[in-house]
Amino acid sequence: MSANIKKEIDELRKEIWRHAKLYYVDSQPVISDYEYDLLFRKLQELEKESPQYITPDSPSQRVALIENTPFKRTSHRLPMLSIDNSYSLDEIRDFAQRVSRNISVNTSQISFVVEPKIDGVAISLWYEKGVLVKALTRGDGIVGEDVTNNARTIRSLPLKLLGSAPDFLEVRGEIYLGHKAFSKINKERASGGENIFANPRNAAAGTLKMLDSKVVRHRQLDFFAHSLGEYTNLDFEHHYETLNSFKELGLPVNEHCQHADNLEQVVDLCQNWVDKKQKLEYDIDGLVIKVNRIDLQQRLATTSRAPRWAIAYKFEHEQAITKLLDVIVQVGRGGTLTPVAILDPVQLAGTVVKRASLHNYEDVARKDVRIGDYVTIVKAGEIIPQVLGSDVERRTGTETIISAPEMCPSCSGEVKRDDGGVYLRCINDQCAQGFKAQLKFFASRKGMDISGLGEKIISQLVDKKMVASFSDLYALRKDDLLLLERMGEKSAQKLIDNIENSKNVSLPKLIFSLGIRHVGTKASKILAKTYNSIDTLMTVSIESLQDIDEIGPVMAESVYEYLRSEQGQNNIKALCSAGVKMEQIEEDTATSIPELPSQFKGKNMVLTGSLVNYTRSELQKKLEDLGAVVRSSVSRNTDYVVAGENAGSKLTKANDLGIAVISEKELEVMLEPIANIGENTQQSFF
Ligand code: IVH
Repeated sequence: MSANIKKEIDELRKEIWRHAKLYYVDSQPVISDYEYDLLFRKLQELEKESPQYITPDSPSQRVALIENTPFKRTSHRLPMLSIDNSYSLDEIRDFAQRVSRNISVNTSQISFVVEPKIDGVAISLWYEKGVLVKALTRGDGIVGEDVTNNARTIRSLPLKLLGSAPDFLEVRGEIYLGHKAFSKINKERASGGENIFANPRNAAAGTLKMLDSKVVRHRQLDFFAHSLGEYTNLDFEHHYETLNSFKELGLPVNEHCQHADNLEQVVDLCQNWVDKKQKLEYDIDGLVIKVNRIDLQQRLATTSRAPRWAIAYKFEHEQAITKLLDVIVQVGRGGTLTPVAILDPVQLAGTVVKRASLHNYEDVARKDVRIGDYVTIVKAGEIIPQVLGSDVERRTGTETIISAPEMCPSCSGEVKRDDGGVYLRCINDQCAQGFKAQLKFFASRKGMDISGLGEKIISQLVDKKMVASFSDLYALRKDDLLLLERMGEKSAQKLIDNIENSKNVSLPKLIFSLGIRHVGTKASKILAKTYNSIDTLMTVSIESLQDIDEIGPVMAESVYEYLRSEQGQNNIKALCSAGVKMEQIEEDTATSIPELPSQFKGKNMVLTGSLVNYTRSELQKKLEDLGAVVRSSVSRNTDYVVAGENAGSKLTKANDLGIAVISEKELEVMLEPIANIGENTQQSFF
């Protein structure tokens, strides 16, 4: 076992060093920064589990190797370290807690500086009596490459400092290429038949290490100063003050560096950045959060690799690469068999992803995804991540081909391909798994809105044969529910109440909940508006349905067939006998305030714009306490967007997607009646 771990650690180190060289030395990385970070984290985890294998030359303990370079090597006066990465606000909160614990100061008393993390090349500049004498790359953190001649060509990098400069000052910063300069270089390269650079960072790194300084000058590199190295005759108490002094000395400091009084403000600033990033004329790959007081920085000190007083908050990544461990079959509504990827858990867009959809077996075959493959997963506005494809190069020969099931994994029933040949379906209409999925859909928020009827409860109700049709739900009594696992008196009563209340849902919701193929929320509304009751709907002709503008022929046929089918008719009759209202209930349109949610639990919310009575993090906390999930970007799964003043792109997107937008005032009204929230679980397959 331990020999295996050691082997895994050794291999991981080799892999990391190879990529570090490609990145730092050759400026030709072959994997994304994110994938690099994943390898790195994996190593850190393994080393944490087996600290006996930690060696001083592990990438976790050092910065990067420096190999044969045409530049003169020069030792740094102080080690040039890296920064630890984080990808979520929770990790930022953990960082602040760590800082607070280390120095025994309450988090509320610690101020920070939040700066853009410029995606360029780290540089150390030595100024003697205000004159630039040396520019060193980071190299391995101990020894750097002397690129002074090239650095001297950068216009924004002062060769002489302004005002009264100290005897010695080491300024650290980032050399980068702006978007304009980058595209100019690539245009020139393309027209000269040369390979183009993949991104501005690679172009900047490649340029800084060119031997002909004249070419470097032509490339228009740029520079921002962001931290202090060694210095004499100066006295700084705060990092923020250092940045201001840099400006006075004529050093360019990024205009978006902001002071944050406490952790809450840091979180607010971080949230505000996601949209701002797009507007910059250079690339940033996140933010750097630094403890502001220099005496506290000194007390916190550094590890051999990174300071304890700073952390990088890397922006959400929409893609990640991880190993496909297994594939399971999920039986959906209508018996659809969907292959679901079981993944080696990976961080993606702020969440840990363990499962992803593989759509259907045809797609799996076309993409040739195999168990054991390294796969790219993507989150493109959807809650369920998708598998994009696999890396054939990384195959070892032990991967297994994924084949479509020959029978339903739930009921062993017959499976058939759809007309189009894409989807596999279990055709047994008694299949328990398929019914569970239908019931979940029936009870969903957009349907009968039965809070508390989650996946686990549904599963038990069906398995224990307590519910075999939608209408059986209405015959359930509290005592029946108490037979279920982990069901207390209070929750049972609440669920019974919620089931009872669902009898009065609006007609569109009732139509939606039936799960008629192709009929979503919009079509349900149209059908309800056109026919006003289920009774009328059951008697309509196919022509009448086809006459409705927004209802296409496929949908019309699907509705018609459902209403004529035995299953459809039985469902509806039984629901009607159970007391479910079958007509349109007049909606009160007098108020502009959106319908009050029964509770916020499980609702996806996005906050945008500036708020008057709350800071964003206060409001976020309040909503989270009420069970809402506050997300940073708007997607189809968003329930509410709270828009403060000057809300921008998120508001536009919410309007485009038809998501309920509420003002701060309206939210306050909504929050008032929510004094006593009961426990309630909204579960999902993912
Ligand atoms: S502070 C000891 N501030 O990111 C770390 N670094 O991934 C002190 N970087 O090596 C660095 N923008 O080259 C700092 N505003 C910023 C930065 C920044 C970019 C680079 C820096 C560092 C690398 C770590």
